[in-house]
Amino acid sequence: MKKILTLGALALALFSLNSCSQKSEMDRFIDDLMGKMSVEEKIGQLNLHSMGFRSSAALTDDNATVKALKEGQMGALYGFGGSPETMRQLQDFALQGPHGIPLIFGMDVIHGYQTIFPVPLAISNTWNTDLVEKYARVAAKEATAGGINWVFSPMVDICHDARWGRIVEGAGEDPYLGGEMAKAMVYGYQGHDDVFDETEVLACVKHYALYGAAEAGRDYNTVNLGRQEILNNWMRPYADAAAAGAASYMSSFNEFEGIPASANHYLLTELLRDTYGFDGFVVSDATAVQEMVAHGIGDLQEVSARALQAGLDMDMNSDGFVGTLKKSLDEGRVSIKDIDKACRRILEAKYKLGLFEDPYKYIKGERTDEIFSEENRALAREVAQESQVLLKNSGILPLSKDAKIALVGPFADNASDMSGAWAMSARASDNVTILQGIREALEGHKGTVSYAAGSKATAQPIGGGFGVGFTRNEGRQNANAKPQPTQAQMVAEAVAIAKRSDVIVACVGEPNAMSGEGSSRADISIPEIQQEFIAALKDTGKPIVLVLTTGRPLTIVWEDENLDAILNTWALGTEAGHAIADVLFGDANPSGKLTTSFPREVGQLPLYYNHKNTGRPHPDYDPYRKFTSCYMDVINAPLYPFGYGLSYTTFEYSGLSLSSDSMPMDGKVTVSVNVKNTGKYDGKETVQLYIHDVVSTSTRPVKELRGFKKIFLKAGESQTVTFDLTAEDLKYYNHALEYVCEEGDFEIMVGPNSRDTETVLLTVK
Ligand code: NOJ
Repeated sequence: MKKILTLGALALALFSLNSCSQKSEMDRFIDDLMGKMSVEEKIGQLNLHSMGFRSSAALTDDNATVKALKEGQMGALYGFGGSPETMRQLQDFALQGPHGIPLIFGMDVIHGYQTIFPVPLAISNTWNTDLVEKYARVAAKEATAGGINWVFSPMVDICHDARWGRIVEGAGEDPYLGGEMAKAMVYGYQGHDDVFDETEVLACVKHYALYGAAEAGRDYNTVNLGRQEILNNWMRPYADAAAAGAASYMSSFNEFEGIPASANHYLLTELLRDTYGFDGFVVSDATAVQEMVAHGIGDLQEVSARALQAGLDMDMNSDGFVGTLKKSLDEGRVSIKDIDKACRRILEAKYKLGLFEDPYKYIKGERTDEIFSEENRALAREVAQESQVLLKNSGILPLSKDAKIALVGPFADNASDMSGAWAMSARASDNVTILQGIREALEGHKGTVSYAAGSKATAQPIGGGFGVGFTRNEGRQNANAKPQPTQAQMVAEAVAIAKRSDVIVACVGEPNAMSGEGSSRADISIPEIQQEFIAALKDTGKPIVLVLTTGRPLTIVWEDENLDAILNTWALGTEAGHAIADVLFGDANPSGKLTTSFPREVGQLPLYYNHKNTGRPHPDYDPYRKFTSCYMDVINAPLYPFGYGLSYTTFEYSGLSLSSDSMPMDGKVTVSVNVKNTGKYDGKETVQLYIHDVVSTSTRPVKELRGFKKIFLKAGESQTVTFDLTAEDLKYYNHALEYVCEEGDFEIMVGPNSRDTETVLLTVK
């Protein structure tokens, strides 16, 4: 044992020595390069523009980007799906610049490159960090095979308000879970070390910071939170991503404490660098520098100078840095040190990617067969199975493969809306529709499926733009070729099919365009036209399984009360139809659990399980009582709480215990609980551990997630699940913003979701 330790220590010492010498080699290289660069060229490195990478048709000598590249006025480009040939041409231009500095190629690879995985909110419902890392690995492999070496992901913004359309891009409402997901994604994209092979990309953690706290869920809106609150409940995922070694961050559009994030020194420098130890580069969100003029803190020159000094390194699409920093330098508004610092960080990223050694490392076009491979699709199917959340089941699910199924609804045979928001390289024609998935599943069985769309998704077409999700829609080019039936005719057709069937599977919800950027909603119910359609189906008296497509939690109280089963599928990507059929027929047992509370009424928002108690607390499920903290017209409880999700089997929890009732500050206790699969199906269960600090110097949430384990149990099998707790897990930021564990009692709660927990008491001395 002793010998092994000694060898281990030696290896560690050699490794650190090696990374030390690599560091100084990098420093020497960059010192030398920067010593030769003009100020203009250094500022050029801080400039990022977007452009299409698919075609080189526009790359003529008078093209502004081509000119900028040749003059060394562009540090990176980002675009929409790559053609390595075009990217090679662009790289050639960059190498013609004064010192031939290679470009970084970025892209919004948000939930997969061409093999589209479920939307990030759905993926967080897996609570399976191993799977999440694997998925991000595949996304990186495909993106790099397409020439991309920088992905604008993970999006780690916590959100308490389902009105915000971008809730679809994150991991929900909990900072601990968000942090675990952030780490898994960074590891998947970048690997576990500092060295980038040709399948690894720079991650870009966004949107830094607090973008998900936009007031009233209105996109880009003001954030109004205090420092203690953000440190305790919002910042953890950003900090965890830095600890995992994330190479870059993207500053957000919103303000914090009256200063837009892109010029906020507290966020960009004091927290991100000085506290979280981040040492990569920060890029602004698109036009965020320019937008600070509208925020009202100065003209483009002033906001650019402020951004640089606050710690922003790269300006996306504003031309603020490239257009004004030289002037600011001449006028003494910024220093050459400020410019050098930012330039060095970007050059360091290029060095780490290996671009100085081989600028064409990622754009050789040799690995394109790794894109959209069978293997990648198989993983997408597995992730899509685990992302689904069974919200209600009267027992009708799983369906028999001998059943006569009426498959109806605007999402039943809809390829493009399976992609979800922000799927830039997706091709709608690659997506498996629910109808296709069910047909394949029924092959060789007695069951049948009859299909009718039955309803439009929305009464009026929805405005396009970024919310649409960028899915190329080749599959539906001929949609307008023949006259469209009226809504009444569509409903009648579906009802007729339903009447002849054993069960109705109604595929309803939100199209892609209703979530994502710039897609906030004040009413988060299923669009009215579809509600009327569901009511017509209900009148048939046939059992109804609701298959929900959505980018956000929806208000579905009526559906919960009136329908037989609800399967929330979010938007599951390429393999949606297969994965949904897998779950509907029980070939996969659903195991997803919500990472966002589902409100009963939009008026409950913001709504989150880790809220505080108030001085007049009101039990979540009690009816209205005057002068307590509640509503007159709805109970406080969400419809479905954080952590909730059903399975086709049942799990029984028993014997919650601690290895000791008390713990010294430097000690450890083990929490144990027995979990038994008491049903007929094998299944996965996510065991969740929450804490509550009973008395503390500042008020604390009623419950906070501090651990989870996803286990697999065969029918009848049991397992003892354990969690180790130390004072580190019980710490929080007190009023003086010190990160402390305070002595006293803590409730330790374990259960299948945030509502149904058992409690034991732990005293920290
Ligand atoms: C704006 C979005 O907020 C951000 O998420 C995205 O990465 C950039 N645009 C680039 O497309």
